[in-house]
Amino acid sequence: MVCKEAFVQTTSHTGEYIAPCGRIVIFGASGDLAKRKLIPALYRLFSQGMLPQDFSIVGVGRTAFTDASFRQHLQESLADTADSDDRSSHFCSHITYLTADPTRTEQLSPLVAERHLGGASLYYLATPPDLYAPIVATLAELGLNQQDKGISRLVVEKPFGHDLDSARQLDRQLHTYFNEEQIYRIDHYLGKETVQNLLVLRFANTMFEVLWNRNMVDFIEITAAEFLGVEKRGAYYEQAGAVRDMLQNHLLQVLAMVAMEPPATISADALRDEAVKVMRFFRPLSAADLRSNLVLGQYLGSRVRHEDLLGYREELGVAADSRTETYVALKMWIDSWRWEGVPFYLRTGKRLPTRVTEVVLHFRKSPHPFFRAGAPVNNLIIRIQPDEGILVSFGLKQPGSGFVVQDVAMDFHYSELANSAIPDAYERLLLDALKGDATLFARSDEVEACWSFIQPILDYLQDPAHALYGYAAGTWGPQEADQLLAADGHAWRFPCKNLTGVQYCAL
Ligand code: BG6
Repeated sequence: MVCKEAFVQTTSHTGEYIAPCGRIVIFGASGDLAKRKLIPALYRLFSQGMLPQDFSIVGVGRTAFTDASFRQHLQESLADTADSDDRSSHFCSHITYLTADPTRTEQLSPLVAERHLGGASLYYLATPPDLYAPIVATLAELGLNQQDKGISRLVVEKPFGHDLDSARQLDRQLHTYFNEEQIYRIDHYLGKETVQNLLVLRFANTMFEVLWNRNMVDFIEITAAEFLGVEKRGAYYEQAGAVRDMLQNHLLQVLAMVAMEPPATISADALRDEAVKVMRFFRPLSAADLRSNLVLGQYLGSRVRHEDLLGYREELGVAADSRTETYVALKMWIDSWRWEGVPFYLRTGKRLPTRVTEVVLHFRKSPHPFFRAGAPVNNLIIRIQPDEGILVSFGLKQPGSGFVVQDVAMDFHYSELANSAIPDAYERLLLDALKGDATLFARSDEVEACWSFIQPILDYLQDPAHALYGYAAGTWGPQEADQLLAADGHAWRFPCKNLTGVQYCAL
């Protein structure tokens, strides 16, 4: 197939640049990610007129499907997303399926004939990571990494390696056939609207930036809590654990956005340069940090809202004596001019009381002798999900005699912005990959910097005697994580109490 308007730029009705034609080839198309995230995100882009006029989606997998049965398989996820039956059928008419072993060149050869010459091709790796290198080699054998007949980009899902060495090795394998400019590593947290909004909050306003440093900030916490357990992903999670699954990528990327210096321009390279720069200021974790500043936990069975929840070791695919962590809390430091002396507390876990991701900046207390005792809470909460928004809390005088200080808050909720449905992270990232905008994708040096920082924890996890604390499902993790902050005179913010207590989760 040849693009009618090869290399001509066109714009969608929202004015965004999109290639005139293109195709998205999804490897691992019969899997959960394609069904739950990628296809619904592509549908929403289609429905908003954001996909190229002439586009196709090709699912590739070993599971045998015909075009019709693959479309049928996707129906369930589209049923929740589709806004009209006609549009959904029109969208499905662009989808085909290739039953193939993606490591066998001859089985992938139909991809050559069906190429949109002059358009953009995205090769999306949504398979188990051990297939990444063989698939990339097969694509190269077929010449599909070449850009002489059209744009060719590789979109890679995490995990990018299992540790520092394997991440470097994967990088070498990808770079054998694709240039860095062709590789789009997905960290879906970077696609979240409120994570990007951190940049606007910090750099488009003057009033926050003057507070954003060690002179004003006492400590910072980043929480990514999930209520769900490992669900059907026990086998994967046994190899990953919370450190690899969430801390190494999502939390450190959010941390970089919170802590970075202003980039010279809002462009892919400038932003990623600043992210890497601040990562290089992360203080390396010492043996003492691993002993005192790291808390690992694993959820235990519990009864929550009249439901019996399994403990991690009872989940499908999990060993009965597993020592994989489902919770991690870490106190760390950034030895930069801006942040020297400010502790950063990061925590993430499964089977916590609720799903919430937020960043909290705790400001220093008033130095005034009169107000110092019982000083009000001064903090800025950036709620990444759900109920996306921002809250500032401070103290004001209670009406009446004397100076009794009361905590008050000013808040902003995205839901209050008219006409502003928040796009799903995958929607934004797929569109950016089609447009060739790599700003929100992790660059190879960023990924390596994150693995380097985390590697001492991975080494520590190898030690069978490492400390691992149990916590009941539906609670905020092991008590040792509270002590981590209490030792510094600090405390986590609890957006909602344990599920045995108050269930409302306040912003
Ligand atoms: C994924 C992890 O990257 O992020 C999952 O593999 C986790 O284990 C998920 O549940 C959390 O993403 P979100 O967008 O629901 O916060």
